[in-house]
Amino acid sequence: MSKNVLVTGGAGYIGSHACKALRDAGYTPVTYDSFVTGWREAVKFGPLEEGDLMDRDRLDAVFARWEPIAVMHFAALSLVGESMRNPGLYWRHNVLSSLSLIEAACAAGCQNFVFSSTCATYGDQDGVVLNETTPQHPINAYGGSKRAIEDMLRDFGASHGLNSVIFRYFNVAGADPEAEVGEFHQPETHLIPLMLDAIDGRRPALTVFGSDYPTADGTCIRDYVHVCDLVDAHVLGLKWLEAGKGSDVFCLGSGKGFSVREVIAQSQAVTNREVPIIEGDRRPGDAAVLVSGSTKAERDLGWTPKRSNLTTMIADAWRWHQNGHYDS
Ligand code: UFG
Repeated sequence: MSKNVLVTGGAGYIGSHACKALRDAGYTPVTYDSFVTGWREAVKFGPLEEGDLMDRDRLDAVFARWEPIAVMHFAALSLVGESMRNPGLYWRHNVLSSLSLIEAACAAGCQNFVFSSTCATYGDQDGVVLNETTPQHPINAYGGSKRAIEDMLRDFGASHGLNSVIFRYFNVAGADPEAEVGEFHQPETHLIPLMLDAIDGRRPALTVFGSDYPTADGTCIRDYVHVCDLVDAHVLGLKWLEAGKGSDVFCLGSGKGFSVREVIAQSQAVTNREVPIIEGDRRPGDAAVLVSGSTKAERDLGWTPKRSNLTTMIADAWRWHQNGHYDS
């Protein structure tokens, strides 16, 4: 019998890679997406159910039709800057839609839940290397909304027996090495795709957001993890839930931080092209350093990141960037 997994946001960057990994691992990923930010062409690896997470009747019908063994919840607004300008959007969209989904899952008796959380829940920790026990003090509404959903999952675990694996992502980068799916946002705000746009002339230049951070070269430091490694961890998290191991939280990062300038230098090396640069102001809501110091996912889930080195991430992103994009 096929093991269905309801993948919210399956038409997005990370969700579409997760669908491929689930399909390859023998599951049927059922994408649930509203196409506010997702792409129809990215739904390639299983059935599609179009709908809004706030539409509880629609969700109930989808749970009844597919009887998923688990939910993987990727659907969210995820832009730090936008969340600073419009916090209401993030609290409403991320928190209320997750509540609707969690209640629908509980009502349908689907007790396994994998959730995409973020290192943005930690806030600015003065360069502290982060792990699952580091206190969370978000400095933007995006991080705040994700932390609220983490709390919600714990409450529904206590009251309804919902088991959740929460993954706190660091900076997700790269693309499917076969370039069937990749990173494509409209508008794009992320460093690596914007830099590749500047390299191939689709944009005039990359603006470096702030050169006066308390780091060696003055630019922000982030921990980049390959999207394929990240979604592999989700499949392991699903297996953990299927094995009845209960709820837990895992950081997903490479354990190494790179500054914006280091990422630029590496991209120039990989593509053998210049990145035109403009020195800009700091972007509100940005922490100076976000680096994972955790090996818990490796230890407990048996996660072995294979492609999370900067060269491979940029090379995979570049391959996709040159050939792939979505129109609808
Ligand atoms: N940056 C620039 N110029 C740009 C874009 C980004 O200098 O044009 C810098 C940012 O200031 C930051 C770094 O590059 O220092 C990475 O920025 P991204 O926008 O690529 O990623 P973020 O670190 O802001 O965000 C990512 C995820 C979020 C997550 C967050 C945690 O997209 O979902 O990490 O901070 F919450």
